[in-house]
Amino acid sequence: MQITLKQPDDWHLHLRDDAMLKAVVASSAQHFGRALVMPNLVPPVTTAQAAREYQSRIEQAVQASLPESGFKPLMTLYLTDTTVADEVVQAAAEGTILAVKLYPAGATTNSASGVTDLKKVMPVLEAMAHHDIVLCVHGEVTHADVDIFDREARFIETVLEPLRRELPELRVVMEHVTTRDGVDYVAANERNLAATLTTHHLMINRNHLLVGGIRPHYYCLPIAKREEHRLALVKAATSGDQRYFLGTDSAPHTRSSKESDCGCAGVFNAANTMVCLAAVFEEAGALDQLEAFASLNGPNWYGLPPNSASMTLRKSDSVTPLPQPVAVDDEWVMPFDPARPIHWEVI
Ligand code: DOR
Ligand code: ZN
Repeated sequence: MQITLKQPDDWHLHLRDDAMLKAVVASSAQHFGRALVMPNLVPPVTTAQAAREYQSRIEQAVQASLPESGFKPLMTLYLTDTTVADEVVQAAAEGTILAVKLYPAGATTNSASGVTDLKKVMPVLEAMAHHDIVLCVHGEVTHADVDIFDREARFIETVLEPLRRELPELRVVMEHVTTRDGVDYVAANERNLAATLTTHHLMINRNHLLVGGIRPHYYCLPIAKREEHRLALVKAATSGDQRYFLGTDSAPHTRSSKESDCGCAGVFNAANTMVCLAAVFEEAGALDQLEAFASLNGPNWYGLPPNSASMTLRKSDSVTPLPQPVAVDDEWVMPFDPARPIHWEVI
């Protein structure tokens, strides 16, 4: 069995910088035509100039490791309490950025400079609504008194819904939705709302993370939820609904920073996302929807054409080996283990 789709894109990717960038970029470039690159560097990418410079470092890394790929990084700006509306409007108008990323302060890796109170960024969000600039949202509240498994649902209720009521023209992507509450919210709100889904949240639940020993390589944010939530995500991804598309949230960390007293959040799934997705969609009886999810719905939302190249995936009798760990300096980045045998390969 095999299927051919338009070349996919990744609408949520962490590429980091320096040695890590050089080490991991080929894992994405070998399969994806484009990726929307997240701005949570240290320091974060908060200006158009920083975004242009980061984009050119990524392009150089592609040239050095996989020049024939034609991989194109699309950039985001990191929203802070002090972001100036004109900076965002100008960066979007000149084509430097495709979207702005909202991290609630403290929500995840390198989010310390994130937004502390939405009121502080309302002028920027109003300008974005006016100029049709997409807001990508890490949708979790951060209050210490909210249970980590409830943070997405609470964000929808107390932050996202009030924001969308106030600014209905703002186009919002709920990034890496992990709950049934998230997909129910998308289903109930037709206008100006879309969601990305990650590879790992389509494949693992919180038991994978915690049963039989703690597995730091499955620790990510938002944290994996119950199986019933994973099933709701699979249903959404495979539904053919145009508002769902792939954002891998591939987020490389070194092995020692994952396997640590205080391990980092992030799953490095760039290299095996497409073979994993083929397995998920096959299992759901929806292989015919994989192209929409991975290759068509994202460009459609961002007003871009799909890629012209194509990708063929083939199912084989033998089990496809996991990707090799990636060497960075004297360390390793471990690839996502989908916790089941995968029989698909990219040919
Ligand atoms: O697991 C995650 N890792 N979630 C995020 O939101 C950020 C990412 C990272 O940058 O490591
Ligand atoms: Zn992310």
